[in-house]
Amino acid sequence: MPSLSRGRLCLALALCAVVLFLVVRSGHQVRSYPKPGFAKQYSLSGTGAVGIGNATLGFEKIFVVNAPWRTDRRDSISLAASYSGMSLEWIDGVQAEDIREKAYPPGNHRQLSDGLKGSWRAHMNALRTIIEQNLSSALIIEDDADWDFRIRSQLSSISHAVPHIPTLVSQKELQAQQHPPSQERLSQADLADRSTVPLSALSSHKTPHHTPYDLTWDVLWLGHCGATLPLPSSASPNRILIPNDRTIPLPKHLKFMRSAPLDAMATLYPPHSRLVHRTNSTLCTIAYAVTQPGARKLLYEFGIRDFSKGYDMALSDYCSGKARAQMEDEAPVPMCVVVQPPVFAHWFDGGNGRSDISAVGASGKPEEGSRYIRWSVRANLEGLVKGEAGLVEQWRDEE
Ligand SMILES: *[C@@H]1O[C@H](CO)[C@@H](O)[C@H](O)[C@H]1NC(C)=O
Ligand SMILES: *[C@@H]1O[C@H](CO)[C@@H](O)[C@H](O)[C@H]1NC(C)=O
Ligand SMILES: *[C@@H]1O[C@H](CO)[C@@H](O)[C@H](O)[C@H]1NC(C)=O
Repeated sequence: MPSLSRGRLCLALALCAVVLFLVVRSGHQVRSYPKPGFAKQYSLSGTGAVGIGNATLGFEKIFVVNAPWRTDRRDSISLAASYSGMSLEWIDGVQAEDIREKAYPPGNHRQLSDGLKGSWRAHMNALRTIIEQNLSSALIIEDDADWDFRIRSQLSSISHAVPHIPTLVSQKELQAQQHPPSQERLSQADLADRSTVPLSALSSHKTPHHTPYDLTWDVLWLGHCGATLPLPSSASPNRILIPNDRTIPLPKHLKFMRSAPLDAMATLYPPHSRLVHRTNSTLCTIAYAVTQPGARKLLYEFGIRDFSKGYDMALSDYCSGKARAQMEDEAPVPMCVVVQPPVFAHWFDGGNGRSDISAVGASGKPEEGSRYIRWSVRANLEGLVKGEAGLVEQWRDEE
């Protein structure tokens, strides 16, 4: 760069040093070299990209729930999506005072905070849009979500696992009717092992899929802050294992926030494992896909029948058969499938006072970065915009 004077060069170097120091100091973020053009390589959208390669990750649309007054968040996720070749549509956040009393379904909504009421309504609007537009599937994400540049390869293996879950679940239920659980005593690890089938062992030549993910489920929970494993099932597996996914951090890093205990799967499965299973209890609606039948069930359940708790907890209960109607009249349990570690996670901005959900760890220091995500799109925004080579990586194996 001949036009760069010595002084400016020094200044630039000093700035780089400061940035590097800040990056290194944050502990889990390290810039690695060289990966020129990595963003371009992983944003496959546009001409010719089909299925998961396309701009909506193989769903019909991607909706982002965002309050119009949080333009900061809209700016940031738009930028992130642009580097992943993703096309977003907006669902406007709602303020509780704009919801009329008469518009609430039955239930104890009065005890809920304004934030929960607004969030509930925004998610209902997303579901209703999916129904109005007769979409076969759509992904709903919250505006502080982060993801890995390699999201399409992650979703590709997940999409092969998901169609097997309804079959596994019905086989397991049949097995349980015919053979009551044995009294054999097994260790937790043996139980986990017997409950799990690797994706490669499942036949891939089922009926050919017309759509990626095969739409035989209601909800596909891709972003959350914690998912409980289903009860072990030693006679008939109920979890699918995607092994050796190098986009997943080491087990010691698998927790949804600094002060949280390790995820149960961290001690039960080899490093770099991803699991796909029916939901048991799942926290936070950071990202979830619904099919058309799924959207209809959810809008009926929470928009019309009952609204008594925060939407994410209500969805978790409904998916695991704990909703009131399901307990009382054995109403059917929807087919909700979850992946863990999740593919989408909360992006924490380090307590810059702009995050509504900034989590504070045990040390009192606000969280910064995102859990579970290594090649984080958000952590790389600044470098991408400046055209820097290299990649900020979180949760490296070597640490
Ligand atoms: C992406 O692929 C899905 C599934 O094939 C399709 O329904 C959707 O319309 C596609 N989206 C775009 C933007 O091409
Ligand atoms: C909605 O989509 C389904 C399948 O994609 C189609 O069979 C149905 O006719 C559509 N309904 C309307 C009202 O367009
Ligand atoms: C969900 O997990 C809890 C705690 O591990 C367990 O008691 C419960 O039976 C599980 N439910 C299902 C449906 O697996």
